[in-house]
Amino acid sequence: MLDREGRSIEYLRLSITDRCNCRCVYCMPEGGVPMLAHDQILSFEELARIVRACAELGVRKVRLTGGEPLARRGVVDLVRMVAEVPGVEDVAMTTNACQLAPIAADLRAAGLGRLNVSLDTLRPERYAKITRCGRLADALAGIAAAREAGFARTKINAVLMGGVNDDEVADLAALAKDEPVDVRFIELMPIGPAAGWPRGRFLPADYVLGRLPAGAEPRGRDGVAELWHVPGWAGNVGLIRPMSHKFCDGCSRIRVMADGRCKPCLHSSAEVDLCGLEGEALLAALRGAIAAKPKYHHMDESHASESARDMNEIGG
Ligand code: 5AD
Ligand code: SF4
Repeated sequence: MLDREGRSIEYLRLSITDRCNCRCVYCMPEGGVPMLAHDQILSFEELARIVRACAELGVRKVRLTGGEPLARRGVVDLVRMVAEVPGVEDVAMTTNACQLAPIAADLRAAGLGRLNVSLDTLRPERYAKITRCGRLADALAGIAAAREAGFARTKINAVLMGGVNDDEVADLAALAKDEPVDVRFIELMPIGPAAGWPRGRFLPADYVLGRLPAGAEPRGRDGVAELWHVPGWAGNVGLIRPMSHKFCDGCSRIRVMADGRCKPCLHSSAEVDLCGLEGEALLAALRGAIAAKPKYHHMDESHASESARDMNEIGG
């Protein structure tokens, strides 16, 4: 389905839980956040209904997010259910990979096509600090298990933070040297706890370019990422610039959160409640959400997201 700007909406980001085993500093406050009660979270049946309705409206790709999607009980069955929806061609997941190792093969067998792994540092102590609860070894074991299970072109996403991990750009990028993974640096966005952070933490993605080995050359785009390639490397380095370069023009996404609200734009306060809706009513609500998709965000002007939600609710 086309929105008012003529953008074709083909990509659903579906948050299947607001819970997470981590509490990353840019995502959740130290004391945690109030979590949805179990009965406030979409059931498998409701999730399936929403995915079917989205597919009817033209969605072809579904990404499962969280919180941490692997924290949802029955996640393997959920993947299978989504993969079986007619019209859905691609099922992906964004995860911190800490709980991935034991179930990577099952997820693959259930129809999960691709994985994005969030990894902001390669230093164990720093990892513990940034995630507050996570262990680097678990995340690395998860990434290795994904490779063994046959996942191809896994993407590693690192949020770039001045004074926190800006000294690791070269080390993180080098993950793409021997392995066919894309390492993507994401500009920190002023949303959730990060909204109040000092300006020095917000680095433009160009910061990465000066720290890549000589000879790095542009290699087109992959979705929202601008790719760079170092000759001889197995994978690419990606820059994702939500702040400095708007990619709203080409945005094909809608989001549904675990409580059943649809967010047509990550950074707008617009939400449409899908709870309890079926059939035509559900389709109409989704059409309404797509119609409410704003032309672009205003984060670069105001240095603030207009979203009323934290990232653990939205799923990135
Ligand atoms: N800015 C940029 N990325 C963020 N994420 C969470 N909060 C922010 C933020 N303020 C990312 C996580 C993860 C995904 C779920 O969203 O690092 O990759
Ligand atoms: Fe969990 Fe991702 Fe938020 Fe970190 S950023 S606390 S891994 S949901």
